[in-house]
Amino acid sequence: MYILGIESSCDETAAAVVDADGKVLSNVVSSQIPVHARYGGVIPELASRNHLMAIDTMVQEALKQAGLPLERITRVGVTLGPGLIGSLMVGVQYAKSLAWTRGLELVPVHHVEGHITAVLIQDGADHPHGPLEFPYLALAVSGGHTSIYLVSAPGQYALLGYTLDDAAGEAFDKVARILGLPYPGGVHVDRISREGNGRVDAVAFPRPLKGRDDFVFSFSGLKTAARVFLQGWNPEAPDNTLTLADVAASFQEAVVDTLLRTTFAAAQAHRARHVVIAGGVAANSRLRGKLTATAPDYGLCAHVTKFAYCTDNAAMIANLARFKTPVTGADMLQLEPFASGQLAPTLAA
Ligand code: KG4
Ligand code: ZN
Repeated sequence: MYILGIESSCDETAAAVVDADGKVLSNVVSSQIPVHARYGGVIPELASRNHLMAIDTMVQEALKQAGLPLERITRVGVTLGPGLIGSLMVGVQYAKSLAWTRGLELVPVHHVEGHITAVLIQDGADHPHGPLEFPYLALAVSGGHTSIYLVSAPGQYALLGYTLDDAAGEAFDKVARILGLPYPGGVHVDRISREGNGRVDAVAFPRPLKGRDDFVFSFSGLKTAARVFLQGWNPEAPDNTLTLADVAASFQEAVVDTLLRTTFAAAQAHRARHVVIAGGVAANSRLRGKLTATAPDYGLCAHVTKFAYCTDNAAMIANLARFKTPVTGADMLQLEPFASGQLAPTLAA
């Protein structure tokens, strides 16, 4: 069985092919970052139009790189939601048309479920942190989500915590923008902190919701604290001792500490021995490094999702489609994309 995956929930048009064992045969992404960068954020209407222009090329490219004709594909996995509705519609309509006209199986996939199971993708390389065991605790952290799940098996989840306001990636991107960095800013905050040897304790940014005993997050206060600090900071002042790298590294540390504290607490409370980070912000070098370095102190085994499968991609969608009951025949025509919604166990039949 060969599975074609399609992902178009935000500003990446992605296609991938995996085999029945989850081996990735191709994984291609067309990023719209240059389209949206001049506006400092994703413009939904432009995103939909660019998905329309790119999707067929991406699917053809994924098949070409996999070395397979379309006739060898038996199943299509597609992101049904959550995301930008116009963007999702492009991928979902394409997948429905393809599956319906060719008599293929169709599997609707929840985007966040794709992220938290991307660590299960087989791509030939051994996992650097040893075998992953169920149940594992997954932190899904991206531009649109910051939530914690207990994963008992692909398809069996419990939502343990989520953000009350902004996602961590959103906070990264907004603070990056105030710092004058390009969109999307998370990767630039990461790079500037690293290349400039930024001091993580140079600015005492708050650790939101510290002391709470549940597993919720909040990043809007931290974002405001960063904005207020930056309004009062003059890098040209004679008594200034801070660099841009110091400010970026201190902000990044506040986000990383907050994510890890809550994730470790949830893992301990639910007796999960394995912890996974996934989603775009899981590409952050400090989060990856600090998770790996400190997890053993809590008796936990850390697993970071491979870099290529952190930000939005279709390999995670195709991989997950392996584990799901497909929709066939006219039933697939009833599938409609959805813009918002937490990952519910019932979705993952
Ligand atoms: O998973 P993703 O590609 O899309 C969503 O589902 O949201 O995540 C995109 C987010 C953006 O906010 C981006 O700034 C952030 O991931 N991001 C990072 C890094 N790379 C991407 N944030 C911090 N450090 C990074 N290295
Ligand atoms: Zn995502």
